[in-house]
Amino acid sequence: MYQTLQNLIKDSQEILSNSGIKNSRYETFLITHKSLKKSYLDILTNPEIIISNNQRDCVMRNIKNRSKGKPISKIFGIKEFFSNEFIVNDNVLDPRPETELLVEVAINQCLNMNKPSISILDLGVGSGCIIISILRELPNIKFRALGVDDSHAALEVAKKNVKKFNFERYLKIKKSNWFSSVKSKFDLIVLNPPYIKTSEIYNLEKDVRIYDPHLALDGGSNGLKAYEIISNKAKFFLNDRGVIIMEIGFGQLNSVKRIFRTKGFTTILEEKDLQGINRVVGFKFKK
Ligand SMILES: C[S@@+](CC[C@H](N)C(=O)[O-])C[C@H]1O[C@@H](n2cnc3c(N)ncnc32)[C@H](O)[C@@H]1O
Repeated sequence: MYQTLQNLIKDSQEILSNSGIKNSRYETFLITHKSLKKSYLDILTNPEIIISNNQRDCVMRNIKNRSKGKPISKIFGIKEFFSNEFIVNDNVLDPRPETELLVEVAINQCLNMNKPSISILDLGVGSGCIIISILRELPNIKFRALGVDDSHAALEVAKKNVKKFNFERYLKIKKSNWFSSVKSKFDLIVLNPPYIKTSEIYNLEKDVRIYDPHLALDGGSNGLKAYEIISNKAKFFLNDRGVIIMEIGFGQLNSVKRIFRTKGFTTILEEKDLQGINRVVGFKFKK
């Protein structure tokens, strides 16, 4: 039996709406557009066109994945972050819009350094979205950059993105348990570590809880484990006047400041995200 595009969209929207997807109409159009590689205009102005079985199966497969909570980015393997499209899969954290603030702050730090050449370390590099976005915004500065992660599978994704954006010469990707395999010092260390309390992971939305890797989320019993470990070693990996800036979770600002202060660091910046939540904090080491 032949099926029209209109009927396919109606069936698809019903599946998404019944499974509790809030913007079911918008997401149906988005998934149809990406699955069939048809423009929105095409979809809206040609509802009566006949859809082949292959086309129908392809749309339905993606709609069913979405109805189970899989994010659209992970269905199609691409996520937009800081106006760039990054390769993603289930082995990396889906880059979050709030992390764009960390990138902006890092770019400003690099510009303020007034140096012709800057070294940057991204701890917990994941897809590579932070460090690659920084490098792309500063074409006139020379870089030596390193991204590390403890997840072998995440590093494979980071390497694909390094290649996609042509940074193989300047940005190395390496397996490391935080600083364990890092051998040199840096002007800037950036990180968006796991900061969710272990007990809260089970309350997260399905698309995060199931499709983001546990290692990218789990911040230990108090959510602060990564900050505690990193604050112990960071001074050995910062150049003179080097800075470390990081994303933090809701309500963590004072705890993270206290952790770094007790290890000899001074706060140099605090930034709120668009929701007014303290999201980024930066430190330098007091000699
Ligand atoms: C919140 S995700 C951030 C990923 C990416 N930087 C981003 O912002 O989208 C935290 C990352 O830290 C990595 N990670 C967790 N524990 C680690 C460890 N002990 N050493 C190095 N990386 C670790 C995870 O694999 C994950 O990629």
